Amino acid sequence: MEKFIIDGGGRLNGSVRIQSAKNAVLPLLAASVLTDEKVFIRDVPPITDVENMLRILQELGCTILRAEGGAVIDSSNAVSHEIPAVLTKEIRSSIFMLGSVLTRFRRARISYPGGCDIGLRPIDLHLFGLKKLGVEIVEEGGYISCYADRLKGAEIQLDFPSVGATENIMLAAVKAEGRTTIGNAAKEPEIVDLQNFLNLMGAKVQGAGSATITVDGVKKLRGVEYSPMKDRIEAGTFLIAAASVGGEVVTEGLFPENIAALLHKLRENGCKIYAKNDKIHIRSDGRLKSVDLVQTSPFPGFPTDLQAQYTALSCTAQGTTVVEENLFETRFKYAGELKRMGADITVRGKTAVVRGVERLHGASVTAGDLRGGAALVLAALKAEGKTTVLDLSHIDRGYGEFERKLRLLGAKIRRYRV
Ligand code: UD1
Repeated sequence: MEKFIIDGGGRLNGSVRIQSAKNAVLPLLAASVLTDEKVFIRDVPPITDVENMLRILQELGCTILRAEGGAVIDSSNAVSHEIPAVLTKEIRSSIFMLGSVLTRFRRARISYPGGCDIGLRPIDLHLFGLKKLGVEIVEEGGYISCYADRLKGAEIQLDFPSVGATENIMLAAVKAEGRTTIGNAAKEPEIVDLQNFLNLMGAKVQGAGSATITVDGVKKLRGVEYSPMKDRIEAGTFLIAAASVGGEVVTEGLFPENIAALLHKLRENGCKIYAKNDKIHIRSDGRLKSVDLVQTSPFPGFPTDLQAQYTALSCTAQGTTVVEENLFETRFKYAGELKRMGADITVRGKTAVVRGVERLHGASVTAGDLRGGAALVLAALKAEGKTTVLDLSHIDRGYGEFERKLRLLGAKIRRYRV
């Protein structure tokens, strides 16, 4: 196990290059088996979720070549339609493999997926969409087996705009016979990125970014080279860090419209923010006023994946912030750890009431999930004294070279083996 030791109190200054988006790269990797030609994905982030997804592809029989920070996926020899249970436990996004493996092999077998422990995370919408496309699904003994001699386009209306279900249906529909329409589709920017990638492969997908996506099935897809979009959650995490401790930071690579809801809140907190092209510049004196209410919701609302980091910021803002989590049931587990650092937070169901305190103090805390872990690091940067953040495996799932990037901005953070 590894831990961070963080000396709090300093400001952050400088520029940080944003990695490719975890949530864009994972579905793109799943999509790479839709063709038997080579796919080159540039700037693949050094995070364990991606490593695990690459291992899943290898288990299917793909050859992976790492080159110049990217990955070449050659699935011409892929033979297996079974996604191994040990890997699906590690990474929830393995569920996307259902759609693309079905398209490739007409069958797929997967165990129930894992991922962060932040709520129930059912997959009923994924399965509902696949069934509509003509897939027969058998669930037994913790496994889901899917069969589809023919995938046929259909009209699919989602009860909720699930990101993963929208992506999975797109992956299963690209080579289906006829037209698929996804109503109440998720509008997240990563879905637009997946559409761009699929269309470059020769697919006919339209409407991503809006509530209706149309997929016209094609016979064949080809290999491509692709640069994924940048990670709005990583960028948001650095912006919140700078806002919270004070200083001047520029994030490079992410266009501000991808993160407008956060920028709006940070301005309300009293930060100065300028954005030009793919650079976002934040200046903060570290003395923030609280905003009344933050509610997470699907894009373009405030992202659930920045809820924990924003709560950490609110701990030392002047006044009270009410944080409402509307996507995942148990996404406040990290709040108990923040309290050990002196935060004043009351959690009731899906709401946290955060009363700003003068200062946090160092403590020994444990990261229990990816974004909650990042929130503890942010709180530690602001706290007086030393904080130990234990169990970095969750943080490493989504933040590549987190401490190196923070150190370049002036943070005092080191990684140690326990
Ligand atoms: C994706 C992101 C994750 C982010 C989330 C919401 C990836 C790899 N992960 O996760 O980082 O936090 O979007 O922006 O892109 N739901 C159902 N049935 C389903 C599927 C989902 O009820 O079949 C519910 C979930 O329990 C949750 C809500 O829908 O309450 C949102 O989930 P969804 O949009 O599917 O998130 P993920 O794709 O899992």
